[in-house]
Amino acid sequence: MPEKILDVKNLQIDFNTYAGEVKAIRDVSFHLNKGETLAIVGESGSGKSVTTRSIIGLLAKNANVVGGEINFHGENLLEASEKDMQNIRGNEISMIFQDPMTSLDPTMKIGQQIAEPLIKHKGASKKEAWAKALEMMKAVGIPDADKRINQYPHQFSGGMRQRIVIAIALICEPEILLADEPTTALDVTVQAEILDLMKDLQKRIKTSIIFITHDLGVVAGMADRVAVMYAGEILEYGTVDDIFFDPQHPYTWGLINSMPTLDSDTLESIPGTPPDLLDPPKGDPFAPRNKYAMKIDIERKPPFFKVSDTHYAATWLLAPGAPKVEPPLEIQRRWKKYALMKKDHELVSEN
Ligand SMILES: Nc1ncnc2c1ncn2[C@@H]1O[C@H](COP(=O)(O)OP(=O)(O)OP(=O)(O)O)[C@@H](O)[C@H]1O
Ligand SMILES: [Mg+2]
Repeated sequence: MPEKILDVKNLQIDFNTYAGEVKAIRDVSFHLNKGETLAIVGESGSGKSVTTRSIIGLLAKNANVVGGEINFHGENLLEASEKDMQNIRGNEISMIFQDPMTSLDPTMKIGQQIAEPLIKHKGASKKEAWAKALEMMKAVGIPDADKRINQYPHQFSGGMRQRIVIAIALICEPEILLADEPTTALDVTVQAEILDLMKDLQKRIKTSIIFITHDLGVVAGMADRVAVMYAGEILEYGTVDDIFFDPQHPYTWGLINSMPTLDSDTLESIPGTPPDLLDPPKGDPFAPRNKYAMKIDIERKPPFFKVSDTHYAATWLLAPGAPKVEPPLEIQRRWKKYALMKKDHELVSEN
């Protein structure tokens, strides 16, 4: 049995706005196993960032945690004091954000920024921390580290800055790394390098990762398991192979279908728009956009139906006696491609 390092139960988060309560996270449960990478995927606004930020206690001021638990080492982080969270943040749990520039301090030397968490959390001396920072800069592949350790963020390219952000996030060897679209701002080649670097460091440090991305191609190469989010809910979760080769929820089909492939630039985005979270639908939130939706999908929220020991999906299509619906042909056509993509990636990371 894999060891659960993080266990999120029935998380519910609202935002106070002038228009009313935005019900952004609605009964989300998932767990993270030790050493694994869990990808959270979903359209814009589905709640990926809010979910991850809640783990580290970095929600916006107008957020209201209505219910749920985030269990980490026997403690519910939602009830932890700000002082406890400060001890955990950057130490046991770290986060990397999408934009590497905003997470670096433009007025501080890179070396200081990488060394700081060690001084703060591990009681390292300045000298020790500086030496470790230098080691870490080399580990994340920054050339001329001895010289560059004294430079400032603006002297680095976007890709190099993201390597620095990764160095800061991992310097205390956290048990959990939360990566919110860590490579979206980078060009494709740099992106691939950074992803390989993250996998490499993960193996060494044995960190568990929650990886947020829009890019299912990245998921195929990085993740062990995937949670598919929509309108503040998880609609399906399973291993990468469950989600790619045996997707069950029509929303997952839509997401897979909307993923660009090498031989076609035409993006087949899912028709329609997500529901208004001021007044969320009472049934399956995807029902209004789902051409396979039945009456019950509109009226009653589907429970998670078990597909296999690792794979669950919340769609009435899986209820006993529901009409048998096959995933669209396009999805089936893509299966071969994922198999190749995964294989490619495995070959690359073995080298
Ligand atoms: N401070 C806030 N005030 C009001 N609503 C908010 C606030 N922060 C987030 N939301 C709402 O919560 C929902 C989830 O947002 P979130 O940022 O988690 O989406 P996301 O899945 O990360 O999207 P993206 O892929 O665009 O980053 C959205 O409907 C968003 O508008
Ligand atoms: Mg986001």
